[in-house]
Amino acid sequence: MTIREIQDEIIRLKKNTNTAVLVHSYQNRDIVEVADYVGDSYKLSVDAKNIDADNILFCGVHFMAETAKILAPSKRVFLANRLAGCPMAEQMDAELISRIKAEEPDRAVVAYVNTTAKLKAVCDVCVTSSSAVKIVKAMENDKILFIPDCNLGGFVQKNVPEKDIKLLHGGCPVHSAVTVDDLMNAKKLHPEALVLVHPECIPDVTAMADYAGSTSGIMDFAKNSDCKEFIIGTEISIVEHLMFECPDKKFYPLSQKIVCRDMKLTSIMDVYNSLKGIENGEAFEIVMSDEEISASRKCIDEMIRLGG
Ligand code: 13P
Ligand code: SF4
Repeated sequence: MTIREIQDEIIRLKKNTNTAVLVHSYQNRDIVEVADYVGDSYKLSVDAKNIDADNILFCGVHFMAETAKILAPSKRVFLANRLAGCPMAEQMDAELISRIKAEEPDRAVVAYVNTTAKLKAVCDVCVTSSSAVKIVKAMENDKILFIPDCNLGGFVQKNVPEKDIKLLHGGCPVHSAVTVDDLMNAKKLHPEALVLVHPECIPDVTAMADYAGSTSGIMDFAKNSDCKEFIIGTEISIVEHLMFECPDKKFYPLSQKIVCRDMKLTSIMDVYNSLKGIENGEAFEIVMSDEEISASRKCIDEMIRLGG
C-alpha cells in the first residue's frame, strides 16, 4: 500500500471504530495528516477531556496517553506504539518526593506533566511548558518544589522571581544536549534568523534565544512574526511542520541532534495496526484502576483550572 492508501484506510478505520486520533506535534507529517487533534501536551490534555468518540488513539509518548486516560476515564485509550516512553517521566519516584514533602510541608510540589501517574499522585499541581509560568504565578504558595525538569523549573524561576523554587536534577536528554556552540554555529550560518527554543534547553542556550516557549508557543511566534527566518531549538519535526504551514518563511534546525527517538518510534503503520487492533482486541490499551485515576487526577484538574 502507498502512504496515501494507508492514510485512507486509517480514515475509514477511525470512523468504523469511533476513534479520535490525538497527535503530538513531534510526530511526523504523515501522522499529523490523519489526526483529529494535533498540538502540544497542554492542548491535547484539554482535547482529551472534551472528546466525544468512544476510543482515543494517542500518537505520542506513554505519559501523554496516560494523561488522556486520567482525563477521559470512560473512554478506552490506546497508545499507537507501546514502546514510546519519555525518559524524563521516569527520572523521579514518588517515594523521593514524599520524603521531601514530609521535610518541607509548606512547599507545594509542581510536576511537569512529563511524569508518571504514580508521581502525579503525590504532587499538588501539574504544568506543561506552555502553562508553567502562568500556573506557578497563580498559585497561592510562595514556596515550590518543581520536578523533574530543572531547566524548565529554572525558566519558571526567572519569570516568577517573587517565588522560592527548589529544583532537583532532572531533564530532557534531547533538549538538554543542545549546546551554546550549537547555537553559535547555527547563528553563523543564518545571521538574519531569530532563535526560538524550548525551555527544556539548558539556561545558557535559553538566555541567548530571541524567544523561549512551548512547542505551540514556538509555532505561534514563528507564524505571527514579521521576520522571515527562524532557527528552531526544539524537536526537528517542528521545523518540517512550520515549513508546510508557512511556505513564505525559512526554518532551520538549531541542531540536527534534536530528535526525540521515543516520539519517532511511532510510524503510520503503527496507527493503522492500532486501529485494526481496536477492532480485534490487539491494540495497546492504557489500563488504570479507579484509585490510580482519582489519585493522579487532582493535580491535572488543578492544572486545567489554573492554566485555562
Ligand atoms: P510540549 O508541552 O511543548 O508539548 O512539550 C512536551 C515535550 O515532551 C517536550 O519535549
Ligand atoms: Fe521526553 Fe524530551 Fe522526548 Fe519530550 S523530547 S518526550 S521531554 S525525551
